[in-house]
Amino acid sequence: MNHDKVEKNIGLMAILIVLVISVGGLVEIVPLFFLKSTTEPVAGLKPYTALQLEGRDVYIREGCYVCHSQMIRPFRAETERYGHYSVAGEFVYDHPFQWGSKRTGPDLARVGGRYSDEWHRVHLINPRDVVPESNMPGFPWLEKNVLNENRTPAKLKAMRTLGVPYTDADINGASHAVKGKTEMDALIAYLQGLGTSIKSRR
Ligand code: HEC
Repeated sequence: MNHDKVEKNIGLMAILIVLVISVGGLVEIVPLFFLKSTTEPVAGLKPYTALQLEGRDVYIREGCYVCHSQMIRPFRAETERYGHYSVAGEFVYDHPFQWGSKRTGPDLARVGGRYSDEWHRVHLINPRDVVPESNMPGFPWLEKNVLNENRTPAKLKAMRTLGVPYTDADINGASHAVKGKTEMDALIAYLQGLGTSIKSRR
């Protein structure tokens, strides 16, 4: 077959383009499903506690991911600032992952343990109380909203169907673990766990 035929026949050209891109895509993507480094949790990674899982839902609901990424790229400028770059095995229990795509604020992948719970509380109610030049909005209602503990076990169960290794005891104890806690408590518990399975240099 000579090139003329392909160049003068848009239908044939389209089919061939799709074919080439599909093969290229498969060659790049399929091996990732079988590589241990992308499918196995890193050493020390624990599933979110019931409280952290509730906090993660608050993080998603409030759109924190719109301004914050959770993905440290392997560049010196990033590792100097945030700590060890992110690796795939840190996210195997994240459904869906919160990598984000825009950094209006700093990356949060390793924010766990960087500040005290009290700092986060003050910061989330009104960021300007601790960072005067901040343009992050305040989230004062989190302090008042109490979690509905009746929904927590179902959330853990849903995660288990996606492969997160929660035990029956985790699920049965989930309501008790979050009872009476506020959304603020949950969000802070979630933030304090972020990125702590790999030792950060900061
Ligand atoms: C409109 C964009 C925006 C949104 C939405 C937003 N933030 Fe921020 N965030 C920022 C900016 C800008 C900073 C840097 C200034 C500061 O520390 O307040 C920041 C800083 C932070 C920090 C300190 C990070 C560090 O390493 O110093 C944390 C923690 C944080 N945000 C958590 C959250 C959480 C949790 C939410 C959702 C409830 C959220 N942010 C929503 C913009 C945002």
